[in-house]
Amino acid sequence: MKVAVLGAAGGIGQPLSLILKTQLPAGSALSLYDVAPFTPGVAVDLSHIPTDVCVKGFTGDDLPKALEGADIVVIPAGVARKPGMTRDDLFNINAGIIANLVKNCAKVCPKACICIITNPVNSTVPIAAEVLKSEGVYDPHRLFGVSALDVLRSETFLAEELGLSKAYMQVPVIGGHSGNTILPLLSKVLGYETISQERIEQLTKRIQEAGTEVVEAKAGAGSATLSMALAGARFALKVGRGLAGEPGVTEYGYVEGGSKYGQFFAQRLEFGTEGWKRVIDFGPVSDYEQKCLDEAKSVLEGNIKKGVEFGQKWVAENK
Ligand SMILES: NC(=O)c1ccc[n+]([C@@H]2O[C@H](COP(=O)([O-])OP(=O)(O)OC[C@H]3O[C@@H](n4cnc5c(N)ncnc54)[C@H](O)[C@@H]3O)[C@@H](O)[C@H]2O)c1
Repeated sequence: MKVAVLGAAGGIGQPLSLILKTQLPAGSALSLYDVAPFTPGVAVDLSHIPTDVCVKGFTGDDLPKALEGADIVVIPAGVARKPGMTRDDLFNINAGIIANLVKNCAKVCPKACICIITNPVNSTVPIAAEVLKSEGVYDPHRLFGVSALDVLRSETFLAEELGLSKAYMQVPVIGGHSGNTILPLLSKVLGYETISQERIEQLTKRIQEAGTEVVEAKAGAGSATLSMALAGARFALKVGRGLAGEPGVTEYGYVEGGSKYGQFFAQRLEFGTEGWKRVIDFGPVSDYEQKCLDEAKSVLEGNIKKGVEFGQKWVAENK
């Protein structure tokens, strides 16, 4: 198994690479790429950790070398939010970065599973799909937006609310990965009936705005990095376990297909040897969740359209 991390020298990229170095199966390879010139140094640093995972670092024009033979590519490259910014404000810079990196993936490792962390995920994943289509290598089952941090946050906040162990809390989070497109299905949580509707709505809002909580607390120094690194590593490791043939591995991810609510939609996926193989239906939802779902639909559609249009224009201009 070879995993490439693009944006590996950044706030997310470094701890993500650290977790992968310690948790990938023995014999795996980890390839780090970033435009930051010290990226080979990050790889040397990690290489001193005694696990049987070989780490190499690349920068500059060496992106193709970094991607050679990759089974999984994780992308946290790009700029992060500052206070007062929405994820959508990042579009102008991050859209082009994603298009360019994904084009390289299409050329060098067309079969790789690509996991996009870079925001706005609701739009960067559709951009990636357009670029892969233009290269004739798009397989929706191998392209993911990493929305799993919303699940981690929901598990934490709900466990705290209910006084339960965080280790066993499970909260489905569907939809997209920004503002009101993030839809935690709290009605599915054990103990839901003990929480008032007012509190359910407050918790839903907190989960939707949890990223902003971090952005404000960091006061200009960026957005979530450590919790995101864990969410991203957990996601990539599960994709890898699926590729290796382990049955029944699931996680929430934002993908194209399998939902009547959006062309791209975050939902629970079962991984297989060819990427995600099936979407697990979330079943009936509460009236409040249905209302949220209906409201999210048009926002998500707008975000997807923006990504598709950018992707098509970028492809036309970068033939
Ligand atoms: N999906 C999520 O839940 C989630 C959560 C938090 C942050 N994010 C997003 O992740 C992204 C990264 O956040 P961060 O805090 O690590 O930012 P950061 O600025 O600390 O790191 C980004 C890294 O990307 C690198 N980079 C920029 N352009 C590149 C290119 N063309 N090729 C390779 N590397 C490039 C930079 O050199 C930097 O090292 C942001 O877009 C942020 O919004 C997503």
